[in-house]
Amino acid sequence: MSIPSRVKLVDVGPRDGLQNEKQPVPAAVKIELVHRLQEAGLKEIEVTSYVSPKWVPQMADNAEVMAGIVRRPGVRYSVLTPNMKGLEAALSAPRELWPDEIVVFGAASEAFSQKNINCSIAESIERFAPVAEAARAQGIHVRGAMSCTVGCPYEGEIAPERVAYLAGLMKGIGVQHVGVADTIGVGTPVKVRKAIEATLQHFAIDDVSGHFHDTYGQAVSNTLAALSLGVWQFDTSVAGLGGCPYAKGATGNVATEDVVYMLQGMGIETGIDLDKLIDAGQFISDHLGRPTQSRVAKALLTKRASASACEAV
Ligand code: HMG
Ligand code: MG
Repeated sequence: MSIPSRVKLVDVGPRDGLQNEKQPVPAAVKIELVHRLQEAGLKEIEVTSYVSPKWVPQMADNAEVMAGIVRRPGVRYSVLTPNMKGLEAALSAPRELWPDEIVVFGAASEAFSQKNINCSIAESIERFAPVAEAARAQGIHVRGAMSCTVGCPYEGEIAPERVAYLAGLMKGIGVQHVGVADTIGVGTPVKVRKAIEATLQHFAIDDVSGHFHDTYGQAVSNTLAALSLGVWQFDTSVAGLGGCPYAKGATGNVATEDVVYMLQGMGIETGIDLDKLIDAGQFISDHLGRPTQSRVAKALLTKRASASACEAV
């Protein structure tokens, strides 16, 4: 399989990135972040989640955020819905505020499934089935996130057979696309490749994406490993924001800036303006009061600062 010539990045920063923040981030800031990401050329943005506000308080303003976004034609807005209650909440808004895509999220690890969504893998599939069916009946695309496909904070290493099992269950309930997630960022290229190959037993390459957290600094390498299998869709997070509330110590997704830089260097088309993306990352990092986690953004911001210092003299 040759390396794809075009890649679609889904910025999951507003959801995966911000869900773990202890201090409430105002809805207006989340909305501005989405606007800046679409201005930078992102064609898919994971905006929020319709989960229990007791479990993830940061996402309690889901409806306000969805209502506040000025949508751009050609951009897909997705939200997480773990059950019918979540889907019904997302669809209780006027139709123009509905998400274009919903995400059901399961795990290849039993223990993580219990910690994250309070049920077994089998029970989660029973809950997702009517969600997928109802969403598709309304013309809403259904994505499945598969957590802990290489390692789990509670069970350790995860065998590819368990990924294949979950992918088969997702396919069986009408999920149209799956994300192979390294939730805690422990994966290395060969392990990630095996998890993707296991997924490909049930889904076509065009219906599979990579979702790599960068805890151990492996996410760019893992992205390259997935690219070499022909995967051309990846979840990334502006400024490397994030972490999962149920995966202690795990850091954010690979920074969108870092992946864009790598892809540009390889001559792969993303449609993303790296300068505008860095500005979006700076906007949210300033709000959170800490530096960006993106190595590329740090390097290019330093370059910008020294260029403007030279101009000033
Ligand atoms: P539960 O307690 O088993 O559900 O939670 P329940 O049906 O027994 O309901 C308990 C309470 O939650 C009730 O409220 C329900 O109304 C309410 P109460 O009567 O106590 O006031 N409830 C809801 N409220 C709002 N929206 C809903 C909803 N459902 C029930 N949809 C549940 C089950 C899944 C809801 C819960 O475990 C939950 O919200 N978990 C949060 C999971 C989460 O958001 N995790 C982070 C996202 S996953 C992730 O980051 C990984 C990913 O990025 C990929 C990767 O990296 O691996 C996707
Ligand atoms: Mg994640």
